[in-house]
Parts: sequence; structure tokens; C-alpha cells
Amino acid sequence: MIRTVIRGTGRHLPPRLVTNQDLAQWMDTSDEWIQQRTGIQQRYWIDPDHPEGASDLGVKAARIALERAGWQATDIDLIIFATLSPDVFFPGSGCLLQHKLGLETTPALDIRQQCTGFLYGMATADAFIRSGMYRRILFVGAEVHSTGLDISTEGRDVTVIFGDGAAAVCFEALETDEPVGVLGQRLHAQGEFAESLMTEAPASRLWPRLTPEMLDQRRHYPRMDGKLIFKLALKRLPETAMAVLKETGIDKHDIDLYIPHQANMRINQFFEKQMELAEGKVYHNIQTYGNTTAATIPLAIDEALEKGIIGPGSTICCFGLGAGVTWGVSIYRFVK
Ligand code: UT7
Repeated sequence: MIRTVIRGTGRHLPPRLVTNQDLAQWMDTSDEWIQQRTGIQQRYWIDPDHPEGASDLGVKAARIALERAGWQATDIDLIIFATLSPDVFFPGSGCLLQHKLGLETTPALDIRQQCTGFLYGMATADAFIRSGMYRRILFVGAEVHSTGLDISTEGRDVTVIFGDGAAAVCFEALETDEPVGVLGQRLHAQGEFAESLMTEAPASRLWPRLTPEMLDQRRHYPRMDGKLIFKLALKRLPETAMAVLKETGIDKHDIDLYIPHQANMRINQFFEKQMELAEGKVYHNIQTYGNTTAATIPLAIDEALEKGIIGPGSTICCFGLGAGVTWGVSIYRFVK
């Protein structure tokens, strides 16, 4: 049977460290508020003197993942690029990254799934691999939020949670009868709540797509109904995780590490409590990076592998909910 396995991972963070105290100089907020409500202590943003796009961060993470997988760029059959902050409105960042990797005609697919970019991306890679269409797929999740955030007090609820960053994963087909690789997953979307987390402009549904008035009205900045998203996450994540555990026949205590999207530490602490998990079973790194959206889960996998918290034979459960709204859960087991 063909299984989808991870051969290499990598991450890249831009150089500019932005602390909660830094944010407090620009808006009415405090280190205490941010830490209490979100768990975040700092995040990395790109250097405004040397601006970079999502594909610039992504290619650096991709090169590390390729090296760890022992692949040349020319080994890649397909690139999947997940981002909500593409370099340009079109074409997709995957095409820009493909060129930066020195490739000529390798296909590149962008997905716009925000916080669940990795979960949708892994499911897409798994489907292509199991169908036999492609054997080696590079997934890249990368975000440059900082160039699009409202750093005034008006935008503080959203701005304090986001960080820039990138992570990459090399997925490969493996012929095996062992239960390894992607073991189970569920994806969901509920467009009914699309307006609750959105950057509205520029937009094809507006004429023109962006005007000075719209800039004055701050309609080009993300806006969020944080309480609603928070409540949806508390309900959807444990319920979907339980469903995938049941479908795969895996006991919740046999998961070595739960790797959540990092949007708010309180969401992940609630998940841990609701699922009655032992302490330390849920991975947190929001303190250091904030919410890096499509990069978050692969970044956490890369970091947990590097720290030796997970390794050969480990089973992980990744989950997240975000704009769309979309949510999902994936269970993956590393090859021994
Ligand atoms: O990754 C995408 C998915 N997103 C999420 O999962 C986010 C989910 N939601 C959240 O994480 C939380 O809702 C937030 C962290 C965004 C906000 O926390 P909250 O506990 O829901 O706060 P709130 O929006 O209800 O605001 C409470 C108070 C308000 O003041 P008043 O009306 O009580 O006077 C806000 O104006 O806190 C104020 N506030 C802030 N104060 C200092 C909001 N943002 C800030 C801030 N600093 N950054």
C-alpha cells in the first residue's frame, strides 16, 4: 500500500524580534494583557529596511527541508504553497518559489486555507501521492503578516497575535504494509463565518478594488471577531479530534504529541483539559513565534523533531481552526 511519509522538515524566521513591549510603544496594549490573554511573549517580523515576501521566507525553509530529505530541488514532483499573505495578488507564491528553487516546469499549487493551510496541504499531498500521480511533494507554509497589520490601537486585538515565518515539509510515497505516514484526517469549512475573520480589500468584489477612502476606513487590515473564533475552536477542535481518533482506532493516550495551530495558548490549554490529556502532551510555542498561520504547524513539527520530543516511530495529532472558518485534524506516524 502507498503511504505518505515525511522525509525532511525545515523552518525559517525573519531576523527582527518584536517583543510585547515593542508593541506597547505603538499601541495601547501591555505585555501583561498579551501574555494573559494569548500566551505570546514575542514574535518575529521581517526587517522593513529589507522587505521580503512569503516566497522569500518559504524558499529558505524549503532549502533546509530538501537538504534533510536528501533531495535535490529537481526531485520535487509538485509544490504546494499555503499562505494567506501571498507575495502578490496573483500569481501564486508557489510559482515564485518554484523559480527561486531554480526549477523550470515543476507544477506549483497555492492553497488559501489560512490557519489550516498545513492540514489541507498535507491532505492534498496525501491524495496526490496515494493516487500514484506524484511521489515527491514539497509543502511550504509561509506568512508575512507584518506588512499588513494595523499597528495602531484600533488593530491591537489582531496585530498582537501575528508573527511572520515559514516552514517546509518534504512528503514522499512509501510502499509499505506498516501503519505509518498519514493515518487519518478530517477537513471542514463553514463559510457562514467568513466575515468573522477577514481582510476585505483589495478585493475583486469591490469597484475599484481599493480607494483612498477604504484605506482611511482601514478596510485593508485584517479584522476579527475574536470571541466567536475562540468559541468555535473550543467546540470544533476536541470534537473533530475525537472523531479522527475513533476512525483510526487510536487511543487518545497513544498520541505522543498533540501539535495544535498556535493562535491562542488558552485554546490549546482548553483542548488539553477537555481531552483529559497528561501534562506536556500538547505542544506550545506561541510564546516565541506568535501565530504564523500556515507556517505554524509544520514549524512546530520541525521544532519538536529538533528538540527530540518526537522522532522515529512517534505518532502526532495536528489540529487547528481559523479563517474561513476552516478546521481540521490529522494523525501522522513517523517511520521507525
Ligand atoms: O489564527 C486565527 C484564529 N484566531 C483565533 O483563534 C483567535 C481567537 N481569539 C482570541 O485569541 C481572543 O479573542 C483575542 C486574543 C483576539 C482577544 O482576547 P479576548 O479575551 O477575547 O478579548 P476581547 O476582544 O473580548 O477584549 C477584551 C478587552 C476589550 O476592552 P473592553 O471592551 O473590555 O474595555 C478590548 O478592547 O481587551 C481589549 N483589548 C486589548 N487590550 C490590550 C483587545 N485587544 C487588546 C490588546 N491589548 N492587544
